Amino acid sequence: MLNDIEKVYYSEEQLHSIVEKLGKQISEDYKDKNLLLVSVLKGSVVFMADLMRTITVPCAIDFMCVSSYKSGTESSGVVKIVKDLDINLEGYDLLIVEDILDSGKTLSSLKKILMSRNPKSIRICTLLDKPERRVVDDIFADYSGAEVPDEFVVGYGLDYDEKYRNLPYIGVLKRKVYEK
Ligand code: IMP
Ligand code: MG
Repeated sequence: MLNDIEKVYYSEEQLHSIVEKLGKQISEDYKDKNLLLVSVLKGSVVFMADLMRTITVPCAIDFMCVSSYKSGTESSGVVKIVKDLDINLEGYDLLIVEDILDSGKTLSSLKKILMSRNPKSIRICTLLDKPERRVVDDIFADYSGAEVPDEFVVGYGLDYDEKYRNLPYIGVLKRKVYEK
């Protein structure tokens, strides 16, 4: 597995401080709100687990699983709900917790679905942002941990073909892994 990694982008230590900074800001901003963290599975599971422990205001959590990737590295733009939320969103200030904002297609569709359920507010928190890759104009990250250039990254929850999620850091995958 380690042989497939070209270089490490964010080490465990760096991720720790990135996540802590986000948690601090979120705790400030949601002091008088009714925060519900919605983790988009599976990619955001590690980020979610770390982020929620840095948040010092009361919050509820829920999980949703959508699929937009058939396989490979390109988003199809069609979002299928694989696992829906359990919680009724009315009265909640929703914060969508995502692993990475790439083309933006997934979040654009997801946000529309969630808006129709009448939460008080919706914002987006993404660990990583690839701004160069954006193709939709209605989605931006309200909270973003770090920017990455247009390279395929794995680890800390992010996968390629369901692998590498368990790496504790974020690294660039060697092209030969997905171009073969
Ligand atoms: P989007 O719809 O193109 O914004 O795709 C977002 C989703 O694609 C993310 O939630 C990831 O699951 C996946 N994704 C995008 N870029 C990467 C990457 O570099 N590594 C791993 N997964 C990625
Ligand atoms: Mg994802």
